[in-house]
Amino acid sequence: MADPVPVITIDGPSGSGKGTISQLLARQLGYHFLDSGALYRLLALAALGRGLELEDEAAVATLARGLDVGFPPDGRILLDGALVGEELRTETTGNAASRVAALPTVRVALLERQRAFARVPGLVADGRDMGTVVFPAAPAKVFLTASAEARAERRYKQLKEKGFDPDMAELVEEIRTRDARDANRAVAPLRPAADALILDSTGLSIEAVLARALGFVRERISA
Ligand code: DC
Repeated sequence: MADPVPVITIDGPSGSGKGTISQLLARQLGYHFLDSGALYRLLALAALGRGLELEDEAAVATLARGLDVGFPPDGRILLDGALVGEELRTETTGNAASRVAALPTVRVALLERQRAFARVPGLVADGRDMGTVVFPAAPAKVFLTASAEARAERRYKQLKEKGFDPDMAELVEEIRTRDARDANRAVAPLRPAADALILDSTGLSIEAVLARALGFVRERISA
């Protein structure tokens, strides 16, 4: 019998297009959406706001357990009841998130919170370890990747559109550093699940990637 709450996991490095593809998939299927990176980003912002050292594992894990976040259906993101704006998506916050995400007890603290997003009719979960750790039994797993240069270029365009003034060389360097940290950490490193579809989006349009992902998901789930 089919799983009553099918979970589709979309993992991959930053800038691979995971966020866009996951949201489009969720919309198309009428599923809920988990942006697990946002949880790590919110945790990093909360830690910085409280003056914690990002490597202080015990303090950050305690904060993670009681983290007051909200993802109302209108798309707003709340931390301690207050709206979080563009600072959530900055490179500085992404890097801080990557640092707190390397702490094992912090990851454990966020595990059940992430699993609670799996509700009927289904969930699309976007992250680094959705298919390997958080939802290992998910029926459809995608690992979305792209070359570092292609990812830096996309990031460059996104940031420009948002009114930032990014430096391309710095972006490539930051992407490589973050990839290395995410892929080499001791717990839940960034890697595809054994049963994941590996999709390289370098040179592909969003529509082409979405079509392939959707085709795969429909094969795996009668959605
Ligand atoms: O997807 P993102 O760029 O918003 O994620 C920010 C950081 O959070 C990323 O560098 C690594 C970490 N992260 C993680 O370790 N595990 C996840 N499931 C999602 C994000």
